[in-house]
Amino acid sequence: MQTLQTTSLRLLDNQLYILDQQALPQEKRWLPASSVEALVGHIHALRVRGAPLIGLSASLLLALLAEQGQSREQLTAALETLRAARPTAVNLMNNLDRMKLALAQNDYVTALAAEALGLIEEDRQLCASIADAGSVLVTPGSRLLTHCNTGGLATAGVGTALGVITLAHQQGKVANVWVDETRPLLQGGRLTAWELGELGVPYQLITDSMAASLMAKGEVDAVWVGADRIAANGDVANKIGTYSLAVLAKFHGIPFYVAAPQTTLDPHCPNGEAIPIEQRAGAEVTGVAGSFGAVQWAPDNAQVYNPAFDVTPAALISGWVLDSGVVTPEQVAAGAFRRA
Ligand code: MRU
Repeated sequence: MQTLQTTSLRLLDNQLYILDQQALPQEKRWLPASSVEALVGHIHALRVRGAPLIGLSASLLLALLAEQGQSREQLTAALETLRAARPTAVNLMNNLDRMKLALAQNDYVTALAAEALGLIEEDRQLCASIADAGSVLVTPGSRLLTHCNTGGLATAGVGTALGVITLAHQQGKVANVWVDETRPLLQGGRLTAWELGELGVPYQLITDSMAASLMAKGEVDAVWVGADRIAANGDVANKIGTYSLAVLAKFHGIPFYVAAPQTTLDPHCPNGEAIPIEQRAGAEVTGVAGSFGAVQWAPDNAQVYNPAFDVTPAALISGWVLDSGVVTPEQVAAGAFRRA
């Protein structure tokens, strides 16, 4: 396959490499992801993360394995293993559904490569369209609050919510970005802070619990987040902590926007209750680990509840900013996300 480079994926000499998102920002380390086991391991450890990126990495690996001579049966098994790597983000399932159609073709080696590369290019364009649509909603002098990481690291393009913020900054409309550190795995503190710094976007890092008082003081003009799955009724699964921000935004009369590509829509899922929520290891809550080292503060036998995502009900969302444009609450209530 051709050489390819995005912010966090690299195809070189017919091998797939991923930028280790657990090592950032201290270290920019590229790791091989040449087998299903390796990539699934990277996805479980969040070395590869972000709804769009997970699906794109799995698609590229399948195409490479096909070129390396794996049979249709082997590739089918690989596809099913990859599909189960993370349960909440539907982009993975949506991308792999398309790869499955390519796998059914006679010349599946060529078809899989074309589909995987097509998905990458499509995601680039989807991100650019989301940024165009969303930046219109950003008013001059805005102080925006964001959660988790939704930038170039998590996509093949400029990102989703962070792509909107970056474009609005380039248009001179962003005074400041409040970056939630995003416990437990600190995607905001490690990744969004790093990306905004690289892009020259002014930001201030806060702990998740600081958002309420900032809103009460009138220091937040809008909240922008991404999504891992959007149900047919408009409910949104996203990084744990998103729901509390939406409740806070509603209470303080602040717009709450969700930015996502069409690959995040799940018309088969009726509502947020039907979205599977990944439960993760207690060690993520009892302490913290990364390229900076590891520390545990909780007692060894501490019992932990650690859902990776929560669900924000549609009623709290001011607008769903997709590549096709802004979808309003009225349009969602009228069935914009339901199956045709
Ligand atoms: O667990 P993560 O880091 O993969 O969670 C990521 C998020 O919740 C993002 O907001 C979402 O995947 C959208 S990324 C464009």
